[in-house]
Amino acid sequence: MMETLVKDGDSYTDRDYYNEFLSILRGGKYGIVIQEGDEWKEQRKFIMSVFNKLGVGKNLLEQRILSEISAMISSIDKDIEAGLEHGKYDIKPRIEVCIASTINLLLLGYEFHGERSHEFHELNSLVIQYMTLVGQPDAQILMFRPYLYNWPYFNKIFAKFQKFIGGMQIEEIQKDANFNEYGEPTDYVTAFLREMKTRENEGYTMIELRNNLLEVWNAGQDTTTVTLLWSIIYMIHHQDIQQKVQEELDQVIGADRLITIEDKPYLPYTSAVTNEVQRCSNILPQNLARKTTRDVTIGGHQVKKGTAVMPMISVVLYDEKV
Ligand code: HEM
Repeated sequence: MMETLVKDGDSYTDRDYYNEFLSILRGGKYGIVIQEGDEWKEQRKFIMSVFNKLGVGKNLLEQRILSEISAMISSIDKDIEAGLEHGKYDIKPRIEVCIASTINLLLLGYEFHGERSHEFHELNSLVIQYMTLVGQPDAQILMFRPYLYNWPYFNKIFAKFQKFIGGMQIEEIQKDANFNEYGEPTDYVTAFLREMKTRENEGYTMIELRNNLLEVWNAGQDTTTVTLLWSIIYMIHHQDIQQKVQEELDQVIGADRLITIEDKPYLPYTSAVTNEVQRCSNILPQNLARKTTRDVTIGGHQVKKGTAVMPMISVVLYDEKV
């Protein structure tokens, strides 16, 4: 991994992620996950710069995330107060809406609360259906053999996605972006729409925007939810570790406030446990395949330009030497 992806990253920037299949389904090569070369670099640079301006990794966004977490905790408290059925509680829906709201805050500038909660349920059920489907062997065969794309089951799910994204309130945001032309964009969609006004022929199109939204939801929602669920499972099964985490939190944070990123250096044990949860849960054992942009040598083997390469992060995660 060090010799290839880290030290020689430019040789591995192209993608081989069901490109043909997804291009057919989307009506072209749209969306940051399947794009390659300069198109990918442009969209990637743009989304990262918008996310940075919106405060990813900084205080600004952290405050919004903390208020989402407070909302989640009080919902869980209320559920528990209302009484548990057979002593059991499903925490997943509360985590899901918290993650989805945080991602949506970056993308469209609003959370999925109150009148907007139905949007979350619709989106979440589509993400789950889509992720379950792409993991199934029959769907994988179809994706490797794109000429079968009009297989009705797959097409039906994708059509639902397109319908949902087509129905999002992008036009309303567009009006706002036109009106508030000189202020700082407050979300990715507004920033993209402004770019579209002058750079439509450089890839800033509505179809690109809608596919990027779909991909960020897909990439962020399930991964983060599943990671948090694993952390809960590990804590339940390793109560000695849970207790040590709790002791560190009690000592450093206390009971009157939430943890912030600035606390991290003072929480070495909790940070190590978080890393360990990510390592052990290994939620993406199969990565998104990449494609070489030039002839390369991997582990002494000559590999031609245009060859699909799938980095297996699990090999690193379980390597005792690392
Ligand atoms: C624990 C949580 C997460 C894990 C384990 C994870 C893992 C990954 C992996 C392995 C890739 C492929 C890397 C590659 O190019 O080889 C990826 C790509 C990506 N992820 Fe995540 N991710 C997580 C959370 C998120 C979140 C929260 C977002 C957005 C809000 C996100 C957005 C993306 C996007 C847009 C890509 C495609 C990037 C590109 O092709 O340039 N991910 N992620």
